[in-house]
Amino acid sequence: MEKVIRKERTLAEPFKIKMVETLKSTTESYRQEKLQEAGCNTFLLHSEDVYIDFLTDSGTSAMSDRQWAGMMMGDESYAGARSWLKLEAVVKDLTGMPFVLPTHQGRAAERILYGILGGKDKVFLSNTHFDTTRANIEFTGATALDLMSEDNTNPELDLPFKGNIDLDQLKEQIDILGKDKIAAVIMTVTNNSSGGQPVSMENVKAVRALCDAHGLLLVLDACRVAENSYFIKHREPGYENRSYKSIATEMLQLGDVFVMSAKKDGLVNMGGLLTLKDPELHRQCVNMLIISEGFATYGGLTGRDMEALACGLVEVFDDGYLHYRIKSTEYLGAGLKKKGIPVVWPIGGHAVYIDAGKLYNNMPVDQYPGQALVCDLYTIGGIRAVEVGSVMFGKYDTDGRLLPARRELVRLAIPRRVYTQSHIDYVLDVFDDILDMRQRSSGLKIVYEPPFLRHFTARFDWL
Ligand code: F0G
Repeated sequence: MEKVIRKERTLAEPFKIKMVETLKSTTESYRQEKLQEAGCNTFLLHSEDVYIDFLTDSGTSAMSDRQWAGMMMGDESYAGARSWLKLEAVVKDLTGMPFVLPTHQGRAAERILYGILGGKDKVFLSNTHFDTTRANIEFTGATALDLMSEDNTNPELDLPFKGNIDLDQLKEQIDILGKDKIAAVIMTVTNNSSGGQPVSMENVKAVRALCDAHGLLLVLDACRVAENSYFIKHREPGYENRSYKSIATEMLQLGDVFVMSAKKDGLVNMGGLLTLKDPELHRQCVNMLIISEGFATYGGLTGRDMEALACGLVEVFDDGYLHYRIKSTEYLGAGLKKKGIPVVWPIGGHAVYIDAGKLYNNMPVDQYPGQALVCDLYTIGGIRAVEVGSVMFGKYDTDGRLLPARRELVRLAIPRRVYTQSHIDYVLDVFDDILDMRQRSSGLKIVYEPPFLRHFTARFDWL
C-alpha cells in the first residue's frame, strides 16, 4: 500500500478536561491598580486577579483522574503508611538509590542536605544553582559557584545542551580549591536559572568521572529529570531507542544524592524527595528530617500527597505526555521568536525565557528591564511572569552600586496540563502590544528589599 504523507497537525492536548476552574476577566485599569497595590511585584498579586499564571511551573500542575483517585486511598498513618511504601518503591525503582526520604518540598530537602554538607569555608560547584539552592548554601556560610561556559550563556547560540557545566572551569576550581574545601558538585537538571536548558548524559558522566577521581560528592538537583530525558532521547546520539524513564534512571544513578522538588515533574501540588546512596549521610539527614519535617516515612507529606506523587512519577514518563509537554512549550517560544521577541534559544522544557535586556534595550540594568516587562505583561494581558535577572540575582558593591546579573531574563513558566493552545495563542497576541509600546516603558527602582531572596517580597516604584 502507498504511504500517505499527511501535513503536520495541530498539537492537540493528550487529555480531555473533566473539571474546570473559572478565570476572572479584568480590565487594564483594574490591573494597573492591583499592580500598584502589590508594589509592582507580581509575587504579591492575588491569583484571582491573574488571567494566565506563568509565575511558576512549581506545584501548579493539574492532576490526573488517577492521581485524584489515588488520593482517596491515602493511608494517613504516622509511621510506615501503605502510601509511603508505595512511593518509596516507585522512587527506588526510578533512582536505583537505597535510601529515600520524603520532604514537603524541594527546599526542605536542600536545607537538610546543605545544612549538613555546608558551613563556613565550604564551596559548592554547579552548572547553575537555583535561587533556593544558593540561598540554603549561603545561609550556612558556604559559597556557591556557577560554572557555565560563555557559549551556554549566549541566548542566541543554538546548541543542544546549554544546561551543561563547563568541564574546564570545573577542573580548574577542583585544582584551586582541593577536595577538602569542596562540599559537593551540584548538577541542576534541567538548568532552571539558565534558561531551563537540558544537560547531556555525556556531561553528567564526565562530572561523575571527575568526582570519582577527586573523591567528591555529586548531587543531582533534578526536579525536571523527565523533561531532560526527552531532550536526551531526541538530541544525544545513542539514546534514540531508549525509554524516557530508563534515561532518567541512568542519569540519577550517576549521582550520590538526588534532590527533587516533586512540584515539577512529580506532577503534584506539594512534595519533595531526598534520596541517597551513602548510609552515614542518610542517617544524618534522617535526624534533621525528623527535627524539622516529620517522621522518616512521611516527611512533611500526608498519605494522600504520597499517593498522588507515586502516581505522578509514573505518568510523567508517558511518551504522549512528554511529547506534548516539550512541544507545547516550544510552540510558545517559537511563536514569540517569529514575532521578533528575543528569547533564549533553543526553548527549554518548562519555560520560555525572554531576553528583556534586549527587548527593552533603552532601559539601563539598574532600572530593572526584566521587572518592567513583567509589569507590562500583567497590565496589558493579565499574564503573570517572573524576572530572572538583576532583581533575583543582583548584588551591591561596597558603595551600594548594583552589580547586575549576567542577563536580564523574564521567565514564562508553563504549568503542566493546565493551559490549552488557545490560552497560549492569547499570550502570543499580548506580545504584539508589548512590541508596540516597549520604547515607552520606564524602569523601576526598589523601595523595599529583604536580605535573602529579595525578589519574593521586594517592592518597587516606577521611575
Ligand atoms: N531546585 C530547582 C532546580 C528548582 O527549580 C526549585 C524550585 C527548587 C530546587 C526548590 O524547590 O520550590 O519545591 O522548594 N523552583 C520553583 C520555580 C520555585 O519556580 O522554578 P521547591
